[in-house]
Amino acid sequence: MTNVTDQDHVLIFDTTLRDGEQSPGATMTHDEKLEIAELLDDMGVDIIEAGFPIASEGDFKAVSEISERSKNSRICGLARANFSDIERCWDAVKHAEKNRIHTFIGTSPLHRSIPNLTQDEMAQKIHDTVSHARNLCENVQWSPMDATRTEWDYLCRVIEIAIKAGATTINIPDTVGYTAPLESTDLIKRLIETVPGADEVVFATHCHNDLGMATANSLAAVAGGARQIECTINGLGERAGNTALEEVVMALRTRNDIMPWNTGIDTTKIMHISRRVATVSGFNVQFNKAIVGKNAFAHESGIHQDGMLKNRENFEIMRPEDIGLSGTSLPLGKHSGRAALRDKLNTLGFELGDNQLKDVFVRFKDLADRKKEVFDDDLIALMTLDEADDYLQLVSMKVTCGTGGQAESTVEMEVVGKDVIATEHGDGPVDASFKAIRAIYPNQAHLQLYQVHAVTEGTDAQATVSVRLEEDGMIATGQSADTDTVVASAKAYIHALNRLIMRREKSGPGIDAREISYKDLT
Ligand code: KIV
Ligand code: ZN
Repeated sequence: MTNVTDQDHVLIFDTTLRDGEQSPGATMTHDEKLEIAELLDDMGVDIIEAGFPIASEGDFKAVSEISERSKNSRICGLARANFSDIERCWDAVKHAEKNRIHTFIGTSPLHRSIPNLTQDEMAQKIHDTVSHARNLCENVQWSPMDATRTEWDYLCRVIEIAIKAGATTINIPDTVGYTAPLESTDLIKRLIETVPGADEVVFATHCHNDLGMATANSLAAVAGGARQIECTINGLGERAGNTALEEVVMALRTRNDIMPWNTGIDTTKIMHISRRVATVSGFNVQFNKAIVGKNAFAHESGIHQDGMLKNRENFEIMRPEDIGLSGTSLPLGKHSGRAALRDKLNTLGFELGDNQLKDVFVRFKDLADRKKEVFDDDLIALMTLDEADDYLQLVSMKVTCGTGGQAESTVEMEVVGKDVIATEHGDGPVDASFKAIRAIYPNQAHLQLYQVHAVTEGTDAQATVSVRLEEDGMIATGQSADTDTVVASAKAYIHALNRLIMRREKSGPGIDAREISYKDLT
């Protein structure tokens, strides 16, 4: 069993910004990546996989800047098994006080057939690339991708080569979410017992959730001797996602009697980062998701409520406060002052300077005028869905709809400083409004997702709307909240368009999106 880390401690390796962000549609802006990295660092994540530096200029810049700003966490970048990937990765992570190069290659028969390498050729490549990474960086992680479907003998052979070449962490990915808990324990245990040098390195587990077993498989791997869990906030990730950080951390904490391993995570920061990741990725958390779902701590049924009132431990194995949910939530109203607002926002995890508070207070008053009671979730929506729309802005809109007829929407927008109005008809108010926006700002973006959620209860509840657009392979998500669902929808659509324009501007050499959008209109 590994002797290089405290046996009671499990390292938390967060890959929200790499494996999570890789999920189609979950792309984040540069500033959002920096913000999430800061929250991860602050909550005690041991290693942050900040991106895949060779993948794009944007990824390189994000990993470099996260490295420069990191305070406590080790910053890691991903690299394929070639020298240019590894060098690019090092160039990005070298700015961090603590850094790591993570290099990988697919070792299963299926994955070996893609570069068409024999077992010997691949073994040589692993030796060369891990040695190269280790010459650049003293902390190197190596992953045999699709390890759980790699032949046992070959897996042992390549892990031994990677350790001899200088890898300090060996990660065992269950790339397609294929393994099961008993197998996961057994695999790690046998690898540690069998591979020469295994006790000199940390074994890590990296699970995907295709069969809904990622959390169980990760914990089972720890029981087998792994001392690093790779995970993402909200389980964000391709297909069914990755192991959810909040699940493994809270499971280890709540059932420490049978899983006696600790993490360094400040669990009270979980809820805030969960909401931020949901907002910036555009992937809402399902209501019944373990730990961070809206209903995870709600006890609706009569029997449960009665039991809860007698003794909360009847139905609660964790306290809401443990993950940063405030216990009681008395709503604010239009008579609430600035101090009460600041106080409430602090308990929700938002710390504001005086100027920021001034600005938020104006928007809070506006909301309180439209809504009698402003609940915690309303404030979170207000704080997190504040669109900074640079290019296109909604000025006003008027919608008429009725039974049996088509809806009509008149939208007024500011497009790069110019006021434009359009009226369109459609199959319902949202359809008519989106058509009017398209008439004002013609675009080919394909609407991939349109989702509405009520933030709180009641007919005056705010609606949060998510819109995902795709244009030439580029994806952008927009979100907004308003007490009027149609207004929230229009704002979310405009938000997504603004992000598409921003992306186009960043990816096109020398192209000024403001120019394009303006010309499109004239
Ligand atoms: O799932 C996987 O195999 C990965 C590797 C790059 C570690 O994400
Ligand atoms: Zn993965």
